[in-house]
Amino acid sequence: MKEGKKVLVVGSGGRCHAIVDALSRSPQVGQIFCAPGNAGISELAECVSIKDTDVEALKGFALTYKIDLTVVGPEVALAAGIADSFRAAGLRIFGHTRSAARIETSKEFAKDIMAKYDIPTAGYKSFTDYAEALAFVNSRPFPAVLKYDGLAAGKGVVIAQDAAEAEAALRDMLCDAKFGEGKVVVEDYLEGPEFSFMCFVNGENVYPMPLAQDHKRAFDGDKGPNTGGMGAYSPLPFITDEDTEFALKEILEKTAKGMVAEGCPLTGVLYGGLMKTRDGIKVIEFNARFGDPETEVVLPLLESDIYDIFSAVADGTEPQQELKWSKEAILGIVLASKGYPGSYEKGASIRISEDLDAMIYHMGTKYNDGHFVTAGGRVMMVVCTADTVAEARAKANKEVGKIKCDNLFHRTDIGWQAK
Ligand code: AMP
Ligand code: GLY
Repeated sequence: MKEGKKVLVVGSGGRCHAIVDALSRSPQVGQIFCAPGNAGISELAECVSIKDTDVEALKGFALTYKIDLTVVGPEVALAAGIADSFRAAGLRIFGHTRSAARIETSKEFAKDIMAKYDIPTAGYKSFTDYAEALAFVNSRPFPAVLKYDGLAAGKGVVIAQDAAEAEAALRDMLCDAKFGEGKVVVEDYLEGPEFSFMCFVNGENVYPMPLAQDHKRAFDGDKGPNTGGMGAYSPLPFITDEDTEFALKEILEKTAKGMVAEGCPLTGVLYGGLMKTRDGIKVIEFNARFGDPETEVVLPLLESDIYDIFSAVADGTEPQQELKWSKEAILGIVLASKGYPGSYEKGASIRISEDLDAMIYHMGTKYNDGHFVTAGGRVMMVVCTADTVAEARAKANKEVGKIKCDNLFHRTDIGWQAK
């Protein structure tokens, strides 16, 4: 075992595999634990079977094993108060308090922050009453953007094309308590390419990561149902340096300052889901954590020590080193179980060819009889680097064919907007 710091990573998907992978490259890190992890992660970390929302058990583990630093992947753990609870126990943790995580967990809170601190976003109005919401939606042009105010596992946004669709969605959100007691934010419909801008945030200090673009629809041509993300790449040729500078100064940094002023400073990742509209760059959503699958194409580019930046954010200090990023192009394709994002079978055996020349991040896999089997909707991500996005894409499309499984599908057009 390598000498050095003991780190606990909370979560189980491809994002956590990429975090664990980056930590494994740190000269300071000795041992990595991941709760609960997955089969791929277990090659780099010791997986501990504790649920990511079981804050008491995670805290007990961190105290018993004298963990030096805990890094939180999913928002559900932040919403469960993991950072508050760890800090109260004197444990170092990279992740926002429950109050700061509202930037993701409450759409209304996020919209109010944007309005108060003059951060560009779509116009909006909030409703708790079904009839009022419906009357408002019907008084405006379609499509209507309806957002459930709370965590809904990525399924809380409906773009209703007509009155009937809006009525059904509002009924789900406000009457039938499908997601629980609710509020709905009705937003202006914006158009333009979307991109993800993730930053490490330590109070008012914002450390940007390279931009990435996710592909949310299940099938080629951006067709089919919305998913957790079917692939991602970086850099983004349609975003200029001026765009990036604007987004950093006018969106990410202003938000970080606003959160400090509100008494709930950010101490983790701020993810800006942004859109380049005709009227400039606007916020579509904020997340309070690393994006998935963006993290799988961003963290492999990090050339400096990730433990250093995680520690600085956890301690509220300056990082020792400046963050350095590779200028390579990178592209990743997600392999998902047939049927995803609807119902799908698990347990299909996966064979990876020995000459595979790509990074693999596991999203939902298990070991069975010494080989990997599918254990989730999104199963693995195949990630390749090259000099250009086009080359990275060609390489990833070739390498993905070296993963054999009867029950997986993937998109072949990841990165089409970079052509
Ligand atoms: P969200 O969960 O807020 O990221 O929304 C999911 C998806 O809905 C986004 O990635 C966008 O494609 C779309 N969307 C959300 N808000 C808007 C908006 N105001 N205008 C157009 N599309 C939107
Ligand atoms: N890729 C979108 C998300 O992580 O929410």
